[in-house]
Amino acid sequence: MSGRALVTGGAGFIGSHLVEGLLGAGFSVRVLDDFSSGREENLAAVARRVEVVRGDCCRAEDAQAAVKGAELVFHLAALPSVQRSVEDPFLAQRKNLDATLVMLDAARRAGVRRFIYAGSSSVYGDSAELPRHEGLCPEPLSPYAAQKLAAEHYCRVFAACYGLHTVALRYFNVYGPRQDPSSPYSGVISLFIAALLDGRAPVIFGDGRQTRDFVFVGDVVAANLLAAARDLAPGSIINVASGRRVTVRELFATVRTAVGGAALCLEPVFAPERPGDVRDSLADLTRARALLGFQPAVSLGEGVRHTVAGFRNATQRQPKEKLP
Ligand code: UD1
Repeated sequence: MSGRALVTGGAGFIGSHLVEGLLGAGFSVRVLDDFSSGREENLAAVARRVEVVRGDCCRAEDAQAAVKGAELVFHLAALPSVQRSVEDPFLAQRKNLDATLVMLDAARRAGVRRFIYAGSSSVYGDSAELPRHEGLCPEPLSPYAAQKLAAEHYCRVFAACYGLHTVALRYFNVYGPRQDPSSPYSGVISLFIAALLDGRAPVIFGDGRQTRDFVFVGDVVAANLLAAARDLAPGSIINVASGRRVTVRELFATVRTAVGGAALCLEPVFAPERPGDVRDSLADLTRARALLGFQPAVSLGEGVRHTVAGFRNATQRQPKEKLP
């Protein structure tokens, strides 16, 4: 494959892995990122091979400049947190929905060949049926989920009204190296690893029997590359997940084993359930297999070990504090 790809949010956790995947597949890559949560370090390994544009997806001028000459747009920039969206739905609306509309508009004006949107499993809410397939009626439970769903609808509308070829991938719970654990809104695996490496007890919200379908970031990159290459109907919506679910308690045990050493003596602390959280989540991957030929390759145990190793390496690379 070749050509130019734009990755919005390309300095973020998932975005930076996608940038590496695209470079590996022969694309030239441009990144649009406002660095509100993205970090230059995430792109350090490929910095000389990527064009990085600091800008805001909500600003039409920034969006138009970034899509210029791009054949593919991967729109990952977002405020990816259910909890943040509950606390500040207006900021989340701007970053999750307004930004998508501006990027879609810029992409169709520039004649982009395909627009691949990073959607979210949160749109399913607590709908009774498990596993969740794309034909289910969405039941968003948080501003984040409502915004992600509305953005998906815009993708379909841009396919129907303007002939822009869009694909929405519904990511389930993505994890892997470089996931930032520094905010209370971070993904649970990154928070568990950071706490255990630090000798602190991780917090489990609720009874810990809620379930999630965790997918390794490398598998998400693979799904994006397939979504760019495969013959797909414009406006397609496709789950991206591992197709397996674990309870948060089981996850804790898996992470603790992977960290090992002194962490094996640590027990979780329980705190009240978070508002907006769904109870259970599991993807039906029938469509992903049929349309993309997608097959998740990394098991949770393997992915968690890989992620722990990534966190350990990153800690070693951090500058040591100067002694007085
Ligand atoms: C949700 C969405 C996901 C979206 C993500 C963005 C669902 C099913 N998933 O993830 O698609 O991309 O938001 O943020 O809606 N937890 C703890 N302790 C912690 C942190 C979290 O017990 O320190 C628990 C949470 O209560 C939750 C689970 O772990 O039950 C996963 O939480 P998190 O990693 O924040 O992701 P979701 O909110 O499930």
